[in-house]
Amino acid sequence: MSILKVACMGHPVLRTKSRPVAPGDIPSHHVQRLIDDLFETMEEYHGIGLAAPQVHHSLRIFVAGISLEPGAVPDDEAGMPRVALINPEITPAGRSIVDGWEGCLSIPDIRGRVPRAETVRVTGYDRTGAPVDATISGLPARVVQHETDHLDGILFFDRMQSFETLSYLEEYRRYWARDDDD
Ligand code: NI
Repeated sequence: MSILKVACMGHPVLRTKSRPVAPGDIPSHHVQRLIDDLFETMEEYHGIGLAAPQVHHSLRIFVAGISLEPGAVPDDEAGMPRVALINPEITPAGRSIVDGWEGCLSIPDIRGRVPRAETVRVTGYDRTGAPVDATISGLPARVVQHETDHLDGILFFDRMQSFETLSYLEEYRRYWARDDDD
């Protein structure tokens, strides 16, 4: 496994729509190695999600430190849950929109509040090629929306309704973190 270089905002790969993975290619060495490297890179940089375009691979794959099981604890002492999703498709379930803080390894040391659907249904494939169909809420739903956006060349700035909360990490911790809701 390898720690990969993360593309930062301004790199065109982050603004390019990624290609779907042919389901028959999911077991391939290339795809499996990329997924391993995405996990290793995400954990090295303490992210909660990382999409293939962020490591210069324009493919519809992301990994995240979340569980797709309803009611799962997002993070605990036993370590982050891990999920890899291939060709994810998202549909909002319900109309509720919630604001929450986001950051992105491609936009280092910046935080901002982003409105997202509270609950979404996500379909796609896992790394074994098995179909995934899950309805999730809260932080996992936010992460899945953020990462799926990367596959369409969309960054979280694009989803902000106002830039008033846009903060450097130090100022976020100093002035905003007490209101942290994720
Ligand atoms: Ni991101």
